[in-house]
Amino acid sequence: MRDFSRALITGATSGIGEAFARELPDDTQLLLTGRNEGRLMALRDELAIGGRAVETVVADLADEGDRASLIARAADFAPDLLINNAGAGKLGRFLENDPDGERETVMVNVVAVVVLTRSLLPAMMQRAEAGGRRCGVIIVSSAAAFTPVPMFATYAASKTFDLHFAEALAEEMRDSPVDILALCPGATRTAFGERAGYDLGNLPGASDPRAVARGALAAVGRETVHVSGLLKQAAFAPIVKPRRIVTGAIGFAMRMLAPRDR
Ligand SMILES: NC(=O)c1ccc[n+]([C@@H]2O[C@H](COP(=O)([O-])OP(=O)(O)OC[C@H]3O[C@@H](n4cnc5c(N)ncnc54)[C@H](OP(=O)(O)O)[C@@H]3O)[C@@H](O)[C@H]2O)c1
Repeated sequence: MRDFSRALITGATSGIGEAFARELPDDTQLLLTGRNEGRLMALRDELAIGGRAVETVVADLADEGDRASLIARAADFAPDLLINNAGAGKLGRFLENDPDGERETVMVNVVAVVVLTRSLLPAMMQRAEAGGRRCGVIIVSSAAAFTPVPMFATYAASKTFDLHFAEALAEEMRDSPVDILALCPGATRTAFGERAGYDLGNLPGASDPRAVARGALAAVGRETVHVSGLLKQAAFAPIVKPRRIVTGAIGFAMRMLAPRDR
């Protein structure tokens, strides 16, 4: 595992983000962010032991002002690892989903990832270069990134963006002192499914979030795309032609999950 000293984790209040906070070594300083202030405080109290600095920022990543405040705090914090983990999505037919929820999905999963990475990475790379070290960026995509997903259209497309964005940056910056990883988890036992309106995370075989975070941290610097857990076979879906067959089959399965379509 690469040795990082200061990590910024978005979506640190639960699930995979919280797992990253717990899996990083005790001497890694943390800047944790999310909207749930109580969870941030509780995590800070729990993890700030033995002089370890754990800072928190309450921020809604769908909000431009909150993103700017977070970036200002992060610039002072000077991370060498940026974990773009926060994510949102709503299961359901696109035209029946709340438009604000669809917008939030794009703002959190796409816009915040681009804005945070663009704002923080130049200084991260400069510090790495000056110190003869490496920095890292983990972008949490999904096994849903590899195909269109009817009934989860905006979410899956946003995760395709995350995957392609991370892969393209990794190639652009392959001679720079940064390791960029797209993490594509399959079904993982977190609050995500309940928030999104399905219960895939409770499937037998769904991954433990700490195992997902551990696998990702071990993969930084070794892989560009790390696919893990249940449903990871989705990574092979793009080779099936015509694409319509895969989309139709996934649409059939997703209709079983969507409450209105059962
Ligand atoms: N669970 C799975 O099966 C699975 C599979 C593949 C990929 N993923 C991806 O894994 C990542 C983490 O999800 P999870 O499974 O750990 O779900 P989770 O337990 O629901 O955690 C989601 C995190 O994102 C934060 N978040 C959501 N909307 C936000 C907003 N508007 N502003 C700021 N923070 C926001 C939440 O914090 P607050 O509520 O405090 O704001 C929370 O900490 C996501 O990107 C998700 O797409 C999950």
